[in-house]
Amino acid sequence: MLHRTVLISWYGNDSLKESEKIVKNRMQTCFNKMQAYKELVKMQEINIQRVMSNLEEIYQCGKKENGECDRLAFSPEDVKGRKTFISYFEAMGIHPKMDAAGNIIARIEGTDPSLACIAMGSHLDTVPNGGKYDGVLGCVGALEVCRVLKESGETLRHPLEVIVFTDEEGARFGSSMVGSSSICGLSGEFHEDDVDLFGLRREEVFQAYGIHTAFLKDAERPADSIRSFLELHVEQGISLYREGKSVGIVSSIAGVTRYEVTLEGQANHAGSTLMGDRKDALVAAADFIRQVPDIVAQWGEKYTVATVGAIRVEPGAVNVVPGKCIFSLEIRDQDDAVMTRIFEKLKGCLEEIAARGNYQLGFRQVSYHAPAPMAEEVKNAIRKACEKEGCPGIELPSGAFHDSLLMTARFPTGMIFIPSVDGISHSPKEFSREEDIEKGCKVLLKTVLELDRSLD
Ligand code: GLV
Ligand code: MN
Ligand code: MN
Repeated sequence: MLHRTVLISWYGNDSLKESEKIVKNRMQTCFNKMQAYKELVKMQEINIQRVMSNLEEIYQCGKKENGECDRLAFSPEDVKGRKTFISYFEAMGIHPKMDAAGNIIARIEGTDPSLACIAMGSHLDTVPNGGKYDGVLGCVGALEVCRVLKESGETLRHPLEVIVFTDEEGARFGSSMVGSSSICGLSGEFHEDDVDLFGLRREEVFQAYGIHTAFLKDAERPADSIRSFLELHVEQGISLYREGKSVGIVSSIAGVTRYEVTLEGQANHAGSTLMGDRKDALVAAADFIRQVPDIVAQWGEKYTVATVGAIRVEPGAVNVVPGKCIFSLEIRDQDDAVMTRIFEKLKGCLEEIAARGNYQLGFRQVSYHAPAPMAEEVKNAIRKACEKEGCPGIELPSGAFHDSLLMTARFPTGMIFIPSVDGISHSPKEFSREEDIEKGCKVLLKTVLELDRSLD
């Protein structure tokens, strides 16, 4: 009050009122700008309700009466899920294209036409009785990032792409990642005459997407077409959940090698062939399978796993001693040398069993993918995004494979994990909490912005 009186005596009442008005106006302008900035920041927020609804809607494409969900690649449910996903983009005025491998690609151009795109994505197909989040989260999260950017009127320097990869799981044909293999120039392992779970030829099954085995190679993309690839995914293991962390930065993805093993003995009458006279191929296989965990425990490392997950016998009748046993053998590790060592030990064990019982032994390598470390520059961008979101991400390896396993060989790639409750996945019990899903989407958005800012 005293201060004002002194000022009036110096400047006169009118001129003081004038300056007060100017100051008030300036403060109002400043306030308006802050409000506009706040609006922009608010607009750049993930809408978690929308994400959760989209996850549920895709889950419904394949949900059965018993509550379980099948969305096997190329099935009518898968086609329905893809159409639903495409409709989300169309509602935004974006019209996704499909490449020669059936990958769905939605693209938003950037402001600098000389730059390669930043791509995000995952898969919509599931294993039989699959979960709600595996793959779908990465697709819906990427969609939500596009929506948030579009709503906030923000155009990136880089073009932005969302890729939904074809048949990641490989649940029908046993060989996975059709879409990402094709983009990375590795479509040679898929053949017209491959036969699926239901006895259908690959070429016939591909009709559902309107694609052909012979043209998969046309989906190949050069290394300079994607500047960076990002995949948001549920961990499918228990580490993050156990440690109470919301976000993981994947350090590397385990390599995977798969074999088809055949043990051939002698089919014979199950009533008249005495136990000592049998050459039962299933018993020999069981002897081997029993020893797999011990061999891994003795010769493997912390993350080494080996699995016999599929088995069949011929002729496969209740009253016939199994003459032939054919089973899968899969080995995974973060280190190629360890995978080789474990394979040699397992093979040695089989050779010993076969020699002892006079069985014919056959091996066929079905697929091989080397372990894949994620790109440092992408990991750093994810780390920064985590810091901005106030949830420091921990680094961890992935034991599950993902399209990123292949993408990383050609394009700088990174993966963001969120926890799977109880570490359960590939199961109807697969569950991730809404708050973790929101954090994962936020980190994905911030990572895209960081990459757009920092990459040429
Ligand atoms: C795919 O999800 C795999 O790791 O088998
Ligand atoms: Mn997946
Ligand atoms: Mn999966």
